[in-house]
Amino acid sequence: MKNATCIDDLREVARRKVPRAFFDYAEAGSYAEETLRANRADLEQIKLRQRVMVDVSSRDTSTTLVGEPVSLPVALAPVAMTGLERGNGEILACRAAQVAGIPFTMSTLSICSIEDVAAAVEKPFWFQLYVMKDRGFVRSLIERAAAARCSALVLTVDLPVMGQRHIDIKNGLSVPPALKIGNLLNMLAKPGWVASVLTGRRWTFGNLDGYVKGMEGAASLAQWVGSQFDQTLSWTDVEWVRSLWPGKLIIKGVLDVEDARLAAKSGAAAIVVSNHGGRQLDGAPSSISMLPRIADAVGSEIEVLFDGGIRSGQDLLRALALGAKGCLIGRAYIFGLGADGEAGVGTAIEIIRKEFEVSMALTGVNRVSEIGRQILMQ
Ligand SMILES: Cc1cc2nc3c(=O)[nH]c(=O)nc-3n(C[C@H](O)[C@H](O)[C@H](O)COP(=O)(O)O)c2cc1C
Repeated sequence: MKNATCIDDLREVARRKVPRAFFDYAEAGSYAEETLRANRADLEQIKLRQRVMVDVSSRDTSTTLVGEPVSLPVALAPVAMTGLERGNGEILACRAAQVAGIPFTMSTLSICSIEDVAAAVEKPFWFQLYVMKDRGFVRSLIERAAAARCSALVLTVDLPVMGQRHIDIKNGLSVPPALKIGNLLNMLAKPGWVASVLTGRRWTFGNLDGYVKGMEGAASLAQWVGSQFDQTLSWTDVEWVRSLWPGKLIIKGVLDVEDARLAAKSGAAAIVVSNHGGRQLDGAPSSISMLPRIADAVGSEIEVLFDGGIRSGQDLLRALALGAKGCLIGRAYIFGLGADGEAGVGTAIEIIRKEFEVSMALTGVNRVSEIGRQILMQ
C-alpha cells in the first residue's frame, strides 16, 4: 500500500478487491443518500484558519477517550459484517487499532465473535450493543462483553427500525439474503477476497451463532436480526443496561440537543454525535452541522464524540475544533481493510494521523487540548 497517499486511494483499491455487494454495502447510505452526502459536503465547507510564525515543533496527537490514553483522538467505529469485507476482518482491524494505540469497537453484528477477537488481541476493545427485543440475549451479550474485558460499552440508539439502502436490496443483501448469480460470479472474480474469507472460516454472525435458540446459518440469523430491532426502546432501557454494565457507557447516535441533554443525565460517560453514517434517517442534518450546538449544550457534563464523513486528518481537526473530544471513523478504515487487510487499516489510521499532525502545525497548535474554534475561519 506504499502508493496509497489518502483514504480515497484505499477506497479505489478496495473497490477492485472487495465483491461488489459488500463494497456497495459499506459505501451506501439510506434512501436518496441526502444525509450521507451532507456529512461530507458540510465538513468540506468548514475552513481552517492558516497561522504562521508559531513554534509548532512540539506537536503531540495523544489524548484520552473516556479516560483511556490514545495516540490519536480516533476510534474505529462499529461496522456490522466487517468480516465480510475481508476474512476475519474484525480481528485484523482490532489488531491494527491496538498497534496504532486507538480503540476498536466491535459491532453486535460482527462476523467474528467477541470471544474470537478477545482471544486474538492483546488489549481490551470496545463493544457496541444493539438492544434487541430478546432481552435475555442482550443480557448474555453484555455478560460476554464483560467476560472478554471490553473496556467500554457503546450503546447504539439510532436504530429502532432499519433505514433502507436501495443498493443492498438490488444486490440481494436483504432479509432474507437473495444473492443473485451475477453477484456470486463477481465474488468468485476476487480471488484474494475468496482466499481470505475461506481461510478465515467465519461466515455468519459470530455473536449470534449458537446463542439464539433454534436459529442456525447466516440466512435464518439475518432474518432473526431483522425481526429483533426494538421499536419500544426508551431511556428506561438505558437504566436497565447500566444496571448490567457498571463500566463505561457510550451512547451512540445522538443528533439532537434535547436528546443530548437526556443522554447527559443518563449516567453515560460519553455520547457519539452521529447519524449512523447517513444510513438511517435520510433528510436528517449532517452530524457536523449538529456538533457545535450539542457540544455547547452538554460538553461540560459529558464527553462528546463525533462521527460521520471523516476521511482525513483535516476532517478530524474540524470536528475537534467544533467541540468533539474524539472521532469515530467507519468507512475510512473499512476501505483500508478491503484494500490490504490489517496493514490497510494501519495505513488508513497513519494517513489520518499524518494529515492531522501537519494540519495542527499549519493551524498553529501543538496539543490536542489547544484545538478550538480559534483554528477555524468564523
Ligand atoms: C457498513 C457499515 C456498517 C455499520 N454498522 C454499524 C453497526 O453495526 N453498529 C453501529 O452502531 N453503527 C454501525 N455503522 C455506523 C458507524 O458506526 C458510524 O457511525 C459511521 O460509519 C460513521 O460514518 P463514516 O463511515 O462516514 O465514518 C455502520 C456503518 C457502516 C458504513
